[in-house]
Amino acid sequence: MTEDDEPDVQLESRLEEQAEFTPPASFVEQANVSDESVYEEFEENWPDEWERAANLLEWEQEWNQVLDDSNEPFYQWFVDGKLNASANCVDRHLDERADEAAIEWIGELGETRTYTYEELHREVNEFAAALRELGVGEDDIVTMYLPMIPELPIAMLACARIGAPHSVVFGGFSADALAERMNAANSDVLVTCDGYYRRGDALDHLSKARNGVSNVESEVTTIVADRLGDDAPTAISDDEYVFSEQVEANSGAVVDPVVRDAEDMLFMMYTSGTTGKPKGVKHTTGGYLSYAAWTSHAVLDVKPDDTYWCAADIGWITGHSYIVYGPLALGTTSVMYEGTPDYPDKGRFWEIVEEYGVNQLYTAPTAIRAFMKWGTEYPEAHDLSSLRLLGTVGEPINPRAWKWYYKHIGNEECPIVDTWWQTETGGMMITTLPGIKKMKPGSAGPPLPGISADIVDPSGDPVGAGRAGHLVVNKPWPGMLRTLYKNDERFLNEYWDEYSIPERDQWVYFPEDGAKVDDDGYITVLGRVDDVINVSGHRIGTMEVESAIVGVEGVAEAAVVGGNHEMKGEAIYGYVITEDGQDETEEFRAEIVAAVEEDIGPFARPEAVIFTPELPKTRSGKIMRRLLEDIANGDELGNTSTLRNPDVVHDIESKVQGD
Ligand code: WTA
Repeated sequence: MTEDDEPDVQLESRLEEQAEFTPPASFVEQANVSDESVYEEFEENWPDEWERAANLLEWEQEWNQVLDDSNEPFYQWFVDGKLNASANCVDRHLDERADEAAIEWIGELGETRTYTYEELHREVNEFAAALRELGVGEDDIVTMYLPMIPELPIAMLACARIGAPHSVVFGGFSADALAERMNAANSDVLVTCDGYYRRGDALDHLSKARNGVSNVESEVTTIVADRLGDDAPTAISDDEYVFSEQVEANSGAVVDPVVRDAEDMLFMMYTSGTTGKPKGVKHTTGGYLSYAAWTSHAVLDVKPDDTYWCAADIGWITGHSYIVYGPLALGTTSVMYEGTPDYPDKGRFWEIVEEYGVNQLYTAPTAIRAFMKWGTEYPEAHDLSSLRLLGTVGEPINPRAWKWYYKHIGNEECPIVDTWWQTETGGMMITTLPGIKKMKPGSAGPPLPGISADIVDPSGDPVGAGRAGHLVVNKPWPGMLRTLYKNDERFLNEYWDEYSIPERDQWVYFPEDGAKVDDDGYITVLGRVDDVINVSGHRIGTMEVESAIVGVEGVAEAAVVGGNHEMKGEAIYGYVITEDGQDETEEFRAEIVAAVEEDIGPFARPEAVIFTPELPKTRSGKIMRRLLEDIANGDELGNTSTLRNPDVVHDIESKVQGD
């Protein structure tokens, strides 16, 4: 070590020790919300204070009641209010911001497209007219299976305009997963594309979409965006409609935004749960949009003049709420990037921040861990001084990664919001308000104003500071899911039953996360307590992976668990018992992995497939997943005395260690 290095090293170690950070004064001065009294106001004037969120929107008709809780837990928000989401995200900014950028799109190969609010308005209208012409009516569900290209938000807003809820299926899902979701939603209109670029290669998307469509029960109308032009591996056929031609054919069309009830469905989004079937989470027009706008305003500090970048994929809820609906409702400029952070080189994100003068960056801990590994030379090569706020979402962030982000990206001048929420919550629930609250690396923070959360033991009693328990939310909030699509019963069973104790006359929402709280009321989320694995911030149900694996000929039984992974947070481990006569070869392993990719998608690819003669089971025949997790993590094994077959765990352990 040279002498020159010393001060920095000292600072680094001081930073390592520091457990609390106060919001930078320069940020506080200009923050959208900086008065601590907001917490009290929500508390004292609950639920009416939620009008603050609704007032960020333009309503066709005011609500008569903020919250109707007469039919718990089927809560209704902003009752009798009427509005249109597309008008709120596009039309109402035309007066003042027609020529300002709504979407700055950056393609992976370096091409860019800017949509001003006026241009966005035009395309949304034209595509809305096209959808109508193709027979899409109010309340018909339109499926989108698209990567990060502008046609995706345009199609979403066009649907919102005509009151047709969308169901966006992440582009990385397989054909089978697409078909399953279209069938479950009775959706017979699909918007997709010919392909997209990933690390410079033109990927075929259309064949996957077609394979999916071939398994949809009804006759499907398919609209294909032409992303690749001559590079497309699969050509658009005559019985498919071309997105750009549809827009052109409706050039200049004006479609009046359909007036929707606050409680009308804006969209649904499938997510993974404990059982094999994905859950169709229903979000509404008034409550969801108010909540997305309010949290973008209060937490992300979005202002109309900002250039704001959420680097998630619109195929997941984060992109819905914080690339499309929240930021556009506030009339800001939302950056949308098609590609990966390391193409063409590992400085791509920082190049974008510098070039566009990005003010807020909202990304996932997985990405931050990758940046950390790549080294500081990449961010250091760029001017990141435009940044004012940083955010993370999707998985717990370890304090080291937090501090790296704070120092090397934020230059110790940007607050970090570590935001806990879910597909079901519609928007952020637990995080610090960046202009008010001190930050504690690794802890998301207190619940947002108006949100009431607790950490409880199995009987529903709060566990007290420092102890692990289950996270519950005690009061409804505007952005909450209203039900699971056409399945009220499952909605009740999945989220409400466990801790809703009739004697207390109160329903509580159970997000299926474990957590602990400290003396300041700061909540640290510890991870899922159901059979859901969080791989790089993607929710994957163990049952879905297991059912893909047992579908492979030669597999007798399978158990899938999540194990810790340095980069991905968690990774998928599959323990497989083969049928008699099936050899445990590398080829067979590859076949199993391929089956998972085919059933779900490449993002659910198992990290390891471990062949085992038996699975650890209790005397009643239940698989002891905890032990399999311990083995995957290389941890000390928990209690094995209740096992019917205690020897097997040591056999599996030595196999894993040998691999
Ligand atoms: C996890 C993504 C720790 C959690 C918005 C939750 C987090 C699941 C955080 C939801 C965070 C999300 N800290 N864990 N800041 N944010 N999670 O539905 O387990 O894709 O239940 O929504 O991600 O994932 P989903």
